[in-house]
Amino acid sequence: MTDHLNKPHGGELKNLLVSEEKAQQLKEESKHMPSWDLTERQICDLELLLNGGFSPLTGFMTRKEYENVCDSMRLPDGTVWPIPITLDITEELAQKLLPGDRLALRDPEGFMAAVLTIEDLWKPDKRKKAEAVYSTVNTEHPGVKYLFKESHTWYVGGRIEGIQLPEHYDFRELRLTPSELRAEFARLGWRRIVAFQTRNPMHRAHFELTLQAVRELQANLLIHPVVGMTKPGDIDHYTRVRCYQAILAHYPQHTVKLSILPLAMRMAGPREALLHAIIRKNYGCTHFIVGRDHAGPGSDSEGKPFYGPYDAQELLKEHAEEIGVEMVPFRMMVYSRKRACYIPVDEAKEDDGVLSISGTELRKRLAEGREIPEWFTFPEVAEELRRTHPPRHRQGFTVFFTGLSGAGKSTLAKALMVKLLEMGGRPVTLLDGDLVRKNLSSELGFSKEHRDLNIRRIGFVANEITKNGGIAICAPIAPYDAIRKEVRNLIEGSGGFVLVHVATPIEECERRDRKGLYAKARAGIIKEFTGISDPYEEPQDAEVVIDTTSLSPDEAAQDILLYLEREGYIGPGNQ
Ligand code: ADX
Ligand code: MG
Repeated sequence: MTDHLNKPHGGELKNLLVSEEKAQQLKEESKHMPSWDLTERQICDLELLLNGGFSPLTGFMTRKEYENVCDSMRLPDGTVWPIPITLDITEELAQKLLPGDRLALRDPEGFMAAVLTIEDLWKPDKRKKAEAVYSTVNTEHPGVKYLFKESHTWYVGGRIEGIQLPEHYDFRELRLTPSELRAEFARLGWRRIVAFQTRNPMHRAHFELTLQAVRELQANLLIHPVVGMTKPGDIDHYTRVRCYQAILAHYPQHTVKLSILPLAMRMAGPREALLHAIIRKNYGCTHFIVGRDHAGPGSDSEGKPFYGPYDAQELLKEHAEEIGVEMVPFRMMVYSRKRACYIPVDEAKEDDGVLSISGTELRKRLAEGREIPEWFTFPEVAEELRRTHPPRHRQGFTVFFTGLSGAGKSTLAKALMVKLLEMGGRPVTLLDGDLVRKNLSSELGFSKEHRDLNIRRIGFVANEITKNGGIAICAPIAPYDAIRKEVRNLIEGSGGFVLVHVATPIEECERRDRKGLYAKARAGIIKEFTGISDPYEEPQDAEVVIDTTSLSPDEAAQDILLYLEREGYIGPGNQ
């Protein structure tokens, strides 16, 4: 097997970092170069280009390389390469560049990471690329969504001269480069090394299958989780790395090593499995584990999986030898209650009493503070997950009121805040419409643009509060649906989001006219007044709808409290 290490998959490791002297010179020259601020995805790609993880690539792909890879999964010289590694930039910048120019690549803090010498500039056909790489143009696929909605419209390709690797301040001792990891394996005397790719916490199933691989192959194990970018909604890498560290102690001594990989995943299933294998080969591994639905994004909204469960194994089987890595395939592993161990699903009999817990079910159990059984995951891993995923009654959430002026939002928001403060446990912040307009958005008017900006600011603050475990109560008019949804999407990533439509009819609001605003709006003294001379888009997605016409603030607040209680946001007394 060891000859694989020297068998060239495009030869030796590429190291695109230049000498210190040359780096100084490039930094000096860069003062006269156009410059590009790299996105998070691009920084991940650049890091693997620079450190040799993407060998034999020596830069961002040119048009020819890109098209070859899309069409035939090969570089122009015939080397297997499954996924385009391209640099996307704005049309505005592209217009200013010509082949032969040099482009300074910077991280978001402005540090110079590399210089690209431009060979090619082109506008890719994104649909064609999606079809080729992802086998779908459905934007429910996270890779397709990124391509269509986030990546820029032009590509620029050419060789890279690296000045410095992107900085990381977390888990430094676990961030080994390909050459460092190869040296480490040599030092340890490891010759057969099986790599395990993951973007999830490792549970018993993963532990058992990796251990089985170690025993059957008589190989050492590299746990090599992705910490660059994974599927949106995945568990954050800080938590995951602590989970991996916790599981290490369960392996036999001297068998396993943990190192983390700054890859940006595409969730491209079969093609991505090939890329994973090439990368692990570059990191010095001889074997690579591929299980069920490797690097797959799951199913679309109609429940149809984007890839078959073993498509990745099929594709890698065809190319493993050429890549120079041996694939270690696994069927789906499930727990047999009868045998009290994990078995491949196709060996399970009727009376095995097969058990498994999906990612969705796990999240639900965490949110509701329910038991996570030991057959599913080691207690230390469960503990780590509980720390960052506390039950709902200890998570932050936002209650977002929307409704016409005078509908009763502020009164209701105040009543709710006071009741939550009386319960105690979490800090509560009220972002009332008028207060926000005074303190946070004083320069804004009431055009659609300004109203949206105001709501975006409220959403930003509420999200920070929610993320840190507090309760944010927002009470703006928020007449536009799209921006309300934007805020919801943002905050649902951090905790709970409850939209309350205070649906008091406009006749009642106008009859009350507490601030005399309706009279002024009717008289034309106030312009752009919601409900009179400006639109209000009724929400169809409100969790709670309240008409305050015949309810006291106390009664209305109760409706919301009961909703919060039912959804688990309010725990038992003194919590
Ligand atoms: S992935 O996107 O990185 O592939 P994940 O971290 O869930 O997702 O999987 C890591 C590896 O473990 C993949 O090779 C996957 O196929 C495999 N795997 C995960 N769960 C199982 C299981 N229950 N049975 C067999 N293989 C599995
Ligand atoms: Mg108000």
